[in-house]
Amino acid sequence: MSSNKQRFIDELMEFLRIPSVSADSKYKKDVVRAAEWVKKSLLDAGADKVEIIPTKMHPIVFGERIIDKKLPTILVYGHYDVQPPDPLNLWHSGPFEPVIKDGKIYARGACDDKGQVYMHVKAFEMMSRNKMLPCNVKFLIEGEEEVGSESLGGFVKNNRKKLEADIILISDTDMIANDIPSISVGLRGLTYVQVEVTGPNRDLHSGVYGGAVPNPINILCDMVSSLKDKNGHITIPGFYKDVRNVPAGERKELNKAPFSLKEYKSDLDIKDVVGEKGFTTVERTAIRPTLDLNGIWGGYTGEGSKTVIASKAYAKISMRLVPNQKSDVIAKLFAKHFQKMAPPSVKVKVDVHHGGEPVMLDTGAVGYKAASRAMETTFGKKPIPTRSGGSIPIVALFKKELGLDSVMLGFGLNSDNIHSPNEHYGIFNYLKGIETIALFHKYYAEMNTKNKSKHK
Ligand code: BES
Ligand code: MN
Ligand code: MN
Repeated sequence: MSSNKQRFIDELMEFLRIPSVSADSKYKKDVVRAAEWVKKSLLDAGADKVEIIPTKMHPIVFGERIIDKKLPTILVYGHYDVQPPDPLNLWHSGPFEPVIKDGKIYARGACDDKGQVYMHVKAFEMMSRNKMLPCNVKFLIEGEEEVGSESLGGFVKNNRKKLEADIILISDTDMIANDIPSISVGLRGLTYVQVEVTGPNRDLHSGVYGGAVPNPINILCDMVSSLKDKNGHITIPGFYKDVRNVPAGERKELNKAPFSLKEYKSDLDIKDVVGEKGFTTVERTAIRPTLDLNGIWGGYTGEGSKTVIASKAYAKISMRLVPNQKSDVIAKLFAKHFQKMAPPSVKVKVDVHHGGEPVMLDTGAVGYKAASRAMETTFGKKPIPTRSGGSIPIVALFKKELGLDSVMLGFGLNSDNIHSPNEHYGIFNYLKGIETIALFHKYYAEMNTKNKSKHK
């Protein structure tokens, strides 16, 4: 591996130069280019065949190397699409002009998820070239994760045979710290909505009409601020009905993981944290549901001032969900509540965007054990199971449609600025990840019962 290090880094930098932003149609061709790049990299690494499957939106890349049908099969999932890079002025270097600084690669997608996807390609290349591949490998790398994985959902439902495997392996999560390895065993689900509040039928002079007509921005602000009470509880009726309360013992375990509130606050430059009463910061970001405004706009936001009462106001709202909440149930509860609480002076529209279901994985499963052993070998410490606050919508669907469990062997850090300006990924993490992934294959193939029965 040491002789390959520089090449592995250079190749990732090349991948990062492709601006595969899935949310913005002006990058559509670049997204296709990234899919082609993934295809070529898999073929170069030793895949038998790789195909690009076009969809209504962005292509899916599927590749495989089947060495022996009797051996277990690992299906690697990841995404080559990235979040939009803006606000651009806050980047220290171009989001698609990767640079290395202080041992980290800076670029959009460096950690989420191109860097982590490419670790799998390189681990596979090493195993293939050294004739050390211990099992079959399939790759499913999509281009729509950051916009909800809609096309992939359909593809999974219609391609059960093609996707047959024993386990799904994903690197798209984070760990506690470089010297505190951890493995994510939970993800939150997501309901995402956009609301529109309409007041008068046109924008009005705020002096001539102000004081008498419903101002949709004021009203939207009142409405959204009433969605939480002073204890940080979400006020939508029925919102917590399906929440599985985490037993005290489990909560205790969760809070044992190393975490410094002081560092957390100083890193973010905040005087205090907020959130649901009765829960710690770790719990608030992992085992409790949330409701957050992601954007709010309306009226005049340009330079200087304009005296105007807008006709419309908008907001984008995300709700993170925990087991056993359901994305579509929460969307309905939200829409009903939002309509009902609107004053008669305005009209309200609620659009439901993409969603995803929460995930919980079993630390007793063979996949988890193999991952834990691999990390223990490469990091010299047994990893801690943690629950992540983010969402990967396809994971629950893999379970539902294919009956397959996932292992979330992620190497990112909280501080990698994913979705933010100056996203980066440590070279340490990148190279450790490659090494750990190769070991995972070895251990999983050894520990999987399918393999054992073959040797009987
Ligand atoms: N890789 C992230 C999810 C993640 C990040 C999980 C950190 C655990 C720790 C993924 O690419 C992502 O950003 N997902 C979106 C969901 C989607 C439907 C837009 C998210 O969580 O906002
Ligand atoms: Mn991701
Ligand atoms: Mn992401």
